[in-house]
Amino acid sequence: MLPTREEALELVRDALACNPGPWGKHSLTAAHCAEKIADACGDMDPEKAYILGLLHDIGRKFGVRHLGHVSDGFTYMKSLGYDEAAKICLTHSFHNHTVEEYIGKFDVSEEELELIKRELSKTEYDEYDRLIQLCDSLAGAEGVLDIKERMGDVKKRYGSYPQAKWDANLRLMNYFEGKMGQNIYLVCEKDIFVPEEITIRKHIAVVAAIIRSGDKIFATQRGYGEFKDGWEFPGGKMEAGETPQQALQREIREELDTEIEVGELFDTVEYDYPEFHLTMQCFLCAVKSGSLVLKEHEAARWLTKENLDSVEWLPADEGLIRKLQRAL
Ligand SMILES: [Fe+2]
Repeated sequence: MLPTREEALELVRDALACNPGPWGKHSLTAAHCAEKIADACGDMDPEKAYILGLLHDIGRKFGVRHLGHVSDGFTYMKSLGYDEAAKICLTHSFHNHTVEEYIGKFDVSEEELELIKRELSKTEYDEYDRLIQLCDSLAGAEGVLDIKERMGDVKKRYGSYPQAKWDANLRLMNYFEGKMGQNIYLVCEKDIFVPEEITIRKHIAVVAAIIRSGDKIFATQRGYGEFKDGWEFPGGKMEAGETPQQALQREIREELDTEIEVGELFDTVEYDYPEFHLTMQCFLCAVKSGSLVLKEHEAARWLTKENLDSVEWLPADEGLIRKLQRAL
């Protein structure tokens, strides 16, 4: 199974949020080259090539590691059921099918090294493995590179470049040029292509209380910040170690001086604001004790199904309001 192009990009964005660096744009360039070459070959799937190019370094999500990014990427993609991407995470670093040829630190545990060796020994390389190996060597963070210059750079940085890998890269280039019948740099638009900036979006997880009393629900108007005056359900961010229920009880205590009973999860809202992605778990709640004193909000109303639309809800709440109208 493969993720879609959008899903793959989302995985890269998410990974960049964890470990920002030039590897994101390097991956975009590799994806671009892979797509173009696959397309020019005629017998390969350009979409698949793009997605595999995009994900080959996804193991970088888990930190600045050398050989470690190979096992991290492999394990991560396997855990999501993306076996073909997992294979690429593994094979892109070993042109000659051996761990020993790896350029860079062997910063892996014994178990990780065993995993890499074991998987590598039972893996057969196909056209896509070969293609991404080549594209990895062509891809810079600012665009498509001359492969000999790029290998020379790596040689300078690490003090050496294994001859076997150098030769393998040139063989790969000749192979794909032969297959396409075209110059690789023309196909990859070396002088034109510039990878886009990848926007890293923050991810914020919050909990919200839909407090009910009879057929009414309790809405509050935000009294501060960017979304001041918008209407919402009270709640807030979870703190480390809290369950959603505990976070909600604490937030309502702080904001409204009230103890609540947290019932079932009504909905989980996923919403993209321009600056961040919001995940909001919304629970049905009831007041246990207290009188909903507005300590942070500027106004509050008890709304019925009929007048739920009488206030200006925050953008993320709109879908939830429709769902509530059907459920109430
Ligand atoms: Fe890599």
